[in-house]
Order: sequence, then C-alpha cells, then structure tokens
Amino acid sequence: MESLVNKNIILGVTGGIAAYKSAEIVRHLKKSGSSVRVVMTASAEEFITPLTMQALSGNRVSTELLDVEAEAAMGHIELAKWADGILIAPATANTLARLSSGRGDDLLSTITLAFDGPIALAPAMNQAMWRDSRTQENLDSLIGNGFTICGPDSGEQACGDVGLGRMLEPIDILDSFSSLFDQGVLVGKDVLITAGPTQEPIDPVRFITNRSSGKMGYRLAESAIQAGAKVTLISGPVNLDPPSNCHLVSVNTAKEMYEAVMHHIKDKDVYIGTAAVSDYSPIKSHDSKIKKDGSKSAMVLELKENRDILKSVSELKERPYVVGFAAETDNLIDNAKKKLNHKNLDLIVANDVSDKNIGFDSDDNEVTLITQKEQKLLEKQTKKKISNKIIEFISRRIND
Ligand code: PMT
Repeated sequence: MESLVNKNIILGVTGGIAAYKSAEIVRHLKKSGSSVRVVMTASAEEFITPLTMQALSGNRVSTELLDVEAEAAMGHIELAKWADGILIAPATANTLARLSSGRGDDLLSTITLAFDGPIALAPAMNQAMWRDSRTQENLDSLIGNGFTICGPDSGEQACGDVGLGRMLEPIDILDSFSSLFDQGVLVGKDVLITAGPTQEPIDPVRFITNRSSGKMGYRLAESAIQAGAKVTLISGPVNLDPPSNCHLVSVNTAKEMYEAVMHHIKDKDVYIGTAAVSDYSPIKSHDSKIKKDGSKSAMVLELKENRDILKSVSELKERPYVVGFAAETDNLIDNAKKKLNHKNLDLIVANDVSDKNIGFDSDDNEVTLITQKEQKLLEKQTKKKISNKIIEFISRRIND
C-alpha cells in the first residue's frame, strides 16, 4: 500500500454494526503512512466512540456540520480541501441513498459534495437491503458519479442472515482503496466485462446452459481493477465472489445480458465479452413443468437465435475498444479470425475449448490474441496471468 504514503485521508464512519471495524481501518491507514481525520455521523456514535477514533487517528474527530468551534478550526470546506481521498466504511444503505441524491445535511455528506478527488464506499447492510432494487439503483448512480465501491462481502451477517452485504475485511478495503492512488495502465478508463454462462429457461425447472464457470471473466475484471480501471462486471450465474471494487450486475438469460450491456455501455472505453452467451433460447418457456406423458419417444424444442451482444456493441456509433473471445473446438485461428471480421472487433482472444486442461471451468488457459495486424500466443498459464497480459495488451492499444 505504498500509494497511501503521505496521503491525507478522511475516514467517514456511518451507523452500522461494522463500525467497530473502522478502528482497524484507521490503524491500517496510519501504518500505510497516511494522515487520517475521522468524520462520524450521529448514528455512528451509537456504535463506536469518537474518543476511540481520536486516540487511533491522533486527530480530533469531526461530527457536527454546524459546530462553531470546529468551523473556526477545520470546517467542512477545509476538510474537503485537505483530503487526498475519502473512504466511507461502513457505508449504510441510508448513506448510499443520501449520497446518491446529493444530500448535504450533515458533515460527512457535505464534505463529499465539496470534495473533488477519489471517494470509496465500503457498503455494509443486511443482504435483503443490499439486493433491494432501490439500493442497486443508488449504487448505479454513485458509480456513474465516480464513486468507487469496495465490496460488499458475502457470508454470515450480524442479524443471522447469510448473503451478500457484509462489510469487507479492513485489509481488503484498504487494498482496494489504495489502488485508487496507483498509477495503473488503465487509470481513468471505464471497462465493461461480461462473464459466465447464460441460462435459457425451458420450463420453471429446466434450462439450456453451458460449462462456463465465469473464472476467465472474473480474473479479467480483477486485472482491470488492479490496472486502475473502473469495472462493471455483467455476470451470468456463477459460484464466484465478485472482485472487490467492481460494480457487479447479475443476470440469467442472454436477453437480460444484452439489456444490461446496452444499459451500461455508454461512455465505456473498453468492452470485453468473455461470457459464453447462449446462441439460442427456447421460443416458448413453459409456465409449468413439462410432463412426460408416455405417448412420445422424442420431443421437439423450438429455438430462436439470440441477439449477438458483441456485434451490437461494435455496431454502436460511439463504440468502445471491443474485445471478443472465441471458444473453438476446431480450426481455432481461422474461426477466430472469421469472428474478428464478422463482428468487427478490435481484438479477439481465441481459446481451444476442446482441451479439458484449459478453457471452460479450468484455472488455466492458453489463448491467441488476434487483431487485424497482429497474432500473439499466450502459452498455458493461470487465467489470472493471462488476464494481466490481455489487460496490458489492451492498454497499449488504447493508450497509443
Ligand atoms: O468461464 P470459464 O469457465 O472461465 O471459461 C472461459 C471461456 C471458455 C467461457 C472464455 O474463455 C470464452 O471463450 N468465452 C467466449 C465463449 C463464447 O461464447 O464464445 P463464442 O465463440 O460462442 O462467441 C464469440 C463471442 O461472441 C464471445 O465473446 C461471446 O461473448 C460473444 N457472443 C456470443 C453470442 C451472443 N449471442 N452474444 C455474444 O456477445
């Protein structure tokens, strides 16, 4: 976390049970070489005392917007000018709602309005509150306004529920937060990545899908984040934790993935289609389970072609740098080149999915990067290493 050395950081603490972990965040920030000033909301004081935070940070804790004494020393505008970065941890659902609507009715929200640098939020709330569409809309709007979201984590919650919503561990929050100060190769770039399979329902209990685990797309999202990009990850159903600090949009069907991509594609610098999108889906999805009536030895399932998401992105008037993946079982390079041309891509990443040691559901991959002018083999290695190399390759093309 060298990037935090000599940085002035405001740690905002809001009222959630995870506030006790904020003390550890102050400790990590100090250890990383930052100066820390803690700003607490009134409800945060119900969970942890300003005295604790003052002792750990070595600075007076600010709590009131209209505090004559504080305004004379370091008021909200001075605090905003002093800071190089703001981290709000925990950030409750209420905080997300208030910040997304631009409220300035307490000290912390006012500082975020007056501040012009990186702001990261570490959400912490009950899993149902996290999933609520209003919370997700608030997140979308915050990300659109340049806020960085660290987490949340999934697991057992203080209320006994299990799911996504728990605050990330302090060290993981610091890891994400410090990357905001790294000078990575994709700093300032917005990247949209699709990952995983899609599921096309036949009836309420059956669907058409494929063997994609999402590993390739999730590793790419991690690499792009580490390179400094803001990442939106649109994912089909997978059993993976999302990388911290990325905006995850979960979908099931190819149609939902298409709609999510079209919703989020505006102003993106790079689009990477890693998802194994179903080319076809059943024309009719039955409302109730299809019964075996014993009169037929075969059944016909009528399928319709799904829209090609990748092609739709490359046909946009203001298109990003468009990267496709080609999953091939034969004639790898020839077929990948056909896709590069047919879908009008900037880059295609060809992988041989007939080899069980790479491609689908493996931790490793071997790929060939193909553009109109170049062809580069990345020999078998972990998907994480492949991802780092793909991100580096892309960054050189878009930064030239
Ligand atoms: O998820 P893992 O288990 O880690 O496996 C990784 C992977 C093998 C899924 C990945 O490396 C990969 O190859 N992804 C692309 C899979 C695929 O659908 O390939 P395709 O050749 O059928 O499609 C070509 C491209 O068009 C892909 O970028 C795909 O996302 C896109 N496409 C396809 C159909 C469609 N309707 N819309 C699309 O955007």
